[in-house]
Amino acid sequence: MSNVKKVAVLPGDGIGPEIIAEAIKVLGVVSKKKGVQFEFTEGLIGGAAIDATGGPFPDETKELVQSSDAVLLGAVGGPRWENLDYSIRPERALLGLRAILGAFANLRPAKIYDALADASTLKREVIEGIDIMVVRELTGGIYFGQPKGVETLPGGGKKGFNTLTYTTPEIERIARVAFEVAGKRGKKVCSVDKANVLECTELWREVVTNVHKDYSHIELSHMYVDNAAMQLIRYPAQFDVIVTTNMFGDILSDEASMLTGSIGMLPSASIGGEIGIFEPIHGSAPDIAGQGKANPIATIMSAAMMVKYAFGMDDVYDDIDSAIVRILDKGYRTPDIMQEGSKSAGCKEMGDLIVAELENS
Ligand code: IPM
Ligand code: MG
Repeated sequence: MSNVKKVAVLPGDGIGPEIIAEAIKVLGVVSKKKGVQFEFTEGLIGGAAIDATGGPFPDETKELVQSSDAVLLGAVGGPRWENLDYSIRPERALLGLRAILGAFANLRPAKIYDALADASTLKREVIEGIDIMVVRELTGGIYFGQPKGVETLPGGGKKGFNTLTYTTPEIERIARVAFEVAGKRGKKVCSVDKANVLECTELWREVVTNVHKDYSHIELSHMYVDNAAMQLIRYPAQFDVIVTTNMFGDILSDEASMLTGSIGMLPSASIGGEIGIFEPIHGSAPDIAGQGKANPIATIMSAAMMVKYAFGMDDVYDDIDSAIVRILDKGYRTPDIMQEGSKSAGCKEMGDLIVAELENS
């Protein structure tokens, strides 16, 4: 890779453009301080793309992402596009993007910022110190399995169906990512399935257990998804890395995010292919779009994950993370994490504060 990092920037809908603008500012500081050059090229995705081209994931955007080193994405969707046919909804663009880039491993960290421990709906003693990484399989499972559809039955009425499939190689590669990630953290993997009911996930459990033979220094446990959902709120500190299927990971990562107080804080990285996708885990929040109230931290942390996972600059990730910690410790809050006695900051101000903190670090 040359020293110029080509980043495809897909702001998308709702608050997407506002939060992306703040992440780009932060990357500007990284560029100045570390001498890396970023070349940002914007593309259309989601509802914004539907309005301009008729479809959520236009060919120009496909070409743009495939010729980039990484993709930084805001959020897609909104009420305006909710009544469209499934095949052209904004959300389809995300699935298409993940599929064409082969981004099969979705890393979703749920880490508590001390300053925000009281913003969680759970008691401080339950969530204190949690640091979980959900490793969600992202390009297989019931999201993509064939056959799928809605059919009219001969006798009247309809039948809707989706298919849960996983092949051995698909499970092996996501299991490897989980064990590798755990090796750099708490050295524990909990694999979540529904092996007591679903044959496909019985295979999942068997393959994960086999791959584990190459990672004997990592502790492996298995949990059924219903129990995992319960354990996550009962005693979340027991988890380090959770590896699971596409749909279970979708659900459990939302649950894990709320442990930390606000979904507006959490980033994600979708890796495994040559080009990674980095995006906040929250949605486009159409209700507050354009009002300057959005929390840009999840997107700024997504940019930090990009710098770490796509460009190997682990130290920059840590610098950005600590700058955010210091700003939170100084009492600045966007409306979603506002607490009594803290200082209110809008989207742009929060971005400026983090930029200044980083410049001075
Ligand atoms: C997510 C979202 C998406 C998913 C939707 C918007 C397609 O919920 O990234 O978690 O289900 O994967
Ligand atoms: Mg989701």
